[in-house]
Amino acid sequence: MVTIPAFSTVSADLEQVELKMKRSLQTPNKYLTDVLLYILESGGKRIRPALALLATKFGQAEPERAISLAGAIELLHTATLVHDDLIDNSLLRRGKTTLNARWSGGATVLAGDLIFAQSAALAAETENVRVISLFAQTLGTICRGELTQLFAHPWREQTREDYHDRIYSKTASLIATATEAGGILAGLPETQIEGLRAYGRNIGMAFQIIDDVLDFVGDERELGKPTGSDLRQGTVTLPTMYFIQNHPADESLARVLDRLETDEKVIAEVVARIARSEAIPASLDEARQFVRAGKDALRMLPDHPSREAMLALADYVIDRKI
Ligand code: IPE
Ligand code: IPE
Ligand code: MG
Ligand code: MG
Repeated sequence: MVTIPAFSTVSADLEQVELKMKRSLQTPNKYLTDVLLYILESGGKRIRPALALLATKFGQAEPERAISLAGAIELLHTATLVHDDLIDNSLLRRGKTTLNARWSGGATVLAGDLIFAQSAALAAETENVRVISLFAQTLGTICRGELTQLFAHPWREQTREDYHDRIYSKTASLIATATEAGGILAGLPETQIEGLRAYGRNIGMAFQIIDDVLDFVGDERELGKPTGSDLRQGTVTLPTMYFIQNHPADESLARVLDRLETDEKVIAEVVARIARSEAIPASLDEARQFVRAGKDALRMLPDHPSREAMLALADYVIDRKI
């Protein structure tokens, strides 16, 4: 698994979270259990559970409930990835073959649903109605985000605001929920809970912008997932928006986004052209602005090792290569 230095204060708890998730994915069918564990144990940075745990440390959360919350958040993320890879027709995740590469669409959907169900069961173990309700809302928000992406306006009509709505729904909402729910379980004052949520939301926005940048400039082997896939799917992300703004008449890009281009060499050439363009530093600048806003939101929180870790994680979000 990838280890992130900022998470050292919660590394022992993260091990408990792994155990809890593993236990919750046991089924009477050995083959099915093996497949679910293969997905769970294929790695992943565990950013969301670590953030939830860090947030709980600001106050007095009951340790077992904090572990359940973190496990619930990571399983929800895992389930969305199983569905996302099916939707994006992606064959590689965390350096391993995806479920949809091996199973039918129907079976993949059901496996994702099963992980969602186990995630909900762990959320219920927090015995906190506010957390459980936040959880349900967030699942709705993520599904709406992915559906909006599928039914997006034609790419020429998409605005920056559409993009922001979309990345909030599909990514930032869950990271905001991780930090907010941690604050709720810790019994923090409302202003601090709000600060944690604002931190999570802003970091989450930056996180998805960087994911979208890495889709152009990342190393496929290092990332463990395919690059150039957003463009191939006809999905307009921030780098492409900036590129279109500067090159509104680029015909080969238009052909790729209209999904008329079948020549792999031409597609790769368009991806490379965006990767080399001014659209990348412009997108990185925007991600940095979100990170700054996220760090600012932590002013509501007291001086604490979790606050230090969250500040360090904010920088990591920008610098990350995977
Ligand atoms: C991938 O999330 C999906 C996005 C929201 C961009 P992560 O980059 O956190 O994936 P893992 O869990 O570390 O593999
Ligand atoms: C994030 O979007 C997907 C979810 C939040 C489920 P992407 O489609 O960009 O994520 P990757 O790049 O496949 O990890
Ligand atoms: Mg995807
Ligand atoms: Mg992506």
